[in-house]
Amino acid sequence: MAKNPKGKKSKKRLMKKPLKKTTITDAEGTERVITGIPGFDALVEGGFPRGKLILLSGTPGTCKTIFGLQFLYNGAKLYGEKGMMVTLEENVEGLKSQALRFGWDFDALEREGLIEFVRLVPGSIKMMSGQELSALAQRKKIKRLVLDSLSSVAINTPMLPIEAGSTIKDINVLRFVYTFISDLRILDGSFTTLLLSQTQGEELSRDSVSEFVCDGLVYIKYASLGGDYSRGLVIRKMRETAHNEDIHPLEIGEKGIKIHKM
Ligand SMILES: Nc1ncnc2c1ncn2[C@@H]1O[C@H](COP(=O)(O)OP(=O)(O)OP(=O)(O)O)[C@@H](O)[C@H]1O
Ligand SMILES: [Mg+2]
Repeated sequence: MAKNPKGKKSKKRLMKKPLKKTTITDAEGTERVITGIPGFDALVEGGFPRGKLILLSGTPGTCKTIFGLQFLYNGAKLYGEKGMMVTLEENVEGLKSQALRFGWDFDALEREGLIEFVRLVPGSIKMMSGQELSALAQRKKIKRLVLDSLSSVAINTPMLPIEAGSTIKDINVLRFVYTFISDLRILDGSFTTLLLSQTQGEELSRDSVSEFVCDGLVYIKYASLGGDYSRGLVIRKMRETAHNEDIHPLEIGEKGIKIHKM
């Protein structure tokens, strides 16, 4: 505990609990963003590489949104990193009450200025391009950005005429998603982005382009792994990281997600 020159405990230190170390750097010098999700960080050399774009994809109900909320909550609560949740899926109240079930009080974080929610309604996506979102995150000094979901952004692709002779059916969607993601990564890497994406079956994303453009790919699916858990998580790609490649059981406990060892 910090003491003032007369040896008394400082009032400021008594009032605020000290935060954990904000960040770590791996042996190669890459800064890591600690997710704080039990069992996850050890799979990726301590956390996501700072400033990168990570795609978290999976079939419906595989806890992508909960993962995103836990990443933001831990960032703000444990590491003092300001987060932003951009949602096209569920309304903000729904997300907050889901979070409260795990003891995560986002209202309190909002009051402390450590979290911002942005609700985009389908059809309004033209109002928020990748560039605009990136600029907003920078202006607000965001460190962790979650977009729920990239699939909904893709569905809102503006209709443009398809070029004559094009053989790719939904070239507009591919271009739109590619541009959206590229625009998010343009700037100085001051924030780390988690893009949530719904898949069907074994595909890695529904748009089939985001898995190539993103720096990291975490995939969750319903899988019977022989134990008590019905969901499995695998890291399919993580640039600048010697990552684990096994499928790991994912548990939803009273305090959120936990990743177990194989
Ligand atoms: N308190 C809880 N305890 C146990 N399981 C829970 C709890 N809350 C939610 N779940 C499980 O988590 C699932 C929802 O998780 P989440 O919304 O993160 O999934 P998602 O991958 O984002 O789904 P979607 O693709 O539909 O957006 C529920 O369907 C339920 O199975
Ligand atoms: Mg979801």
